[in-house]
Amino acid sequence: MRQKIIIDTDPGQDDAVAILLALASPDDLDVLGITSVAGNVPISSTTRNCLMLVELARRTEIPVFRGSAGPLARDLVTAEHVHGPTGIDGIDRPAPTTQVAEASAVDFIIETLMTIDEVVVCTLGPLTNIAHALTEEPRIAARIKQLILMGGGHFEGGNTTPVAEFNIYVDPQAAAQVFASGIPLVMMPLDVTHRAIATPSRIDAFRHLGTPPGDAVAGMLDFYHRHDIERYGMPGGPLHDPTVIAYLLDPGLFTGRYVNVEIETQSALTMGTTVVDWWGVTKRPANCLVMRGLDADGFYHLLVERIGRLR
Ligand code: RIB
Ligand code: CA
Repeated sequence: MRQKIIIDTDPGQDDAVAILLALASPDDLDVLGITSVAGNVPISSTTRNCLMLVELARRTEIPVFRGSAGPLARDLVTAEHVHGPTGIDGIDRPAPTTQVAEASAVDFIIETLMTIDEVVVCTLGPLTNIAHALTEEPRIAARIKQLILMGGGHFEGGNTTPVAEFNIYVDPQAAAQVFASGIPLVMMPLDVTHRAIATPSRIDAFRHLGTPPGDAVAGMLDFYHRHDIERYGMPGGPLHDPTVIAYLLDPGLFTGRYVNVEIETQSALTMGTTVVDWWGVTKRPANCLVMRGLDADGFYHLLVERIGRLR
């Protein structure tokens, strides 16, 4: 069944691959709109990057909406040291000419969820836009079919502090609001995404497609993975965000558990931790399907096959 989705994103090379995967799958996914949020780089850059990506995929009929410029209650933390100053360094494309939509991201999210049934929200960055939409129109919580997010970590710890993952760390108050909302949640934490390593041979598979999107993906991943190799000693960069879209296309690639997840928002030391009750020791009600296992080869086969459909 073709799923209606909204993609909320802070491109980011890994966001870019996720967006291209979604735009390459029109028979499976009806992308109603893409909403930018500040995260990896400031909002002007994430918005521009969204416009570049719909042009690269030749899907400029999909509207892009500008979102929140910063978190609910903290100063914005960005990640140019990982993604480069543009956020998608490694791509060799002209500046976009496609215009951003008039409406704000939050207004688009509210309007879409209040008028269209069975919409899946896919978040690839901080949850700021979703939190604003919930505050302005609480009724959307009962209307969202599912929210699939890349964020958090448990067994793998954090990548921004020892215990906090970037998307949650940037806006922990927004994350706490989403996890308390009652929206059906699926979480792709670092425990899954660190199994999705873009090794040189996997990057070459995109390069061998011989298409502009394939070349763009290979160029972005060649840039993106140097940070993780240097920092973590990994054989490449983890492809975090495409796991969200891959879950919609082939959920059998993943294994997980429905448990309680709470967000730390009080302690400076552990701010932004996703407290995952994997063993059910607290008796707090489960609120999230937390993924842990991944068929990494199957994931990359899906990515290359689908992105290979773009010309
Ligand atoms: O921690 C990884 C997440 O933070 C990914 O979504 C990446 O794009 C950054 O936003
Ligand atoms: Ca992201």
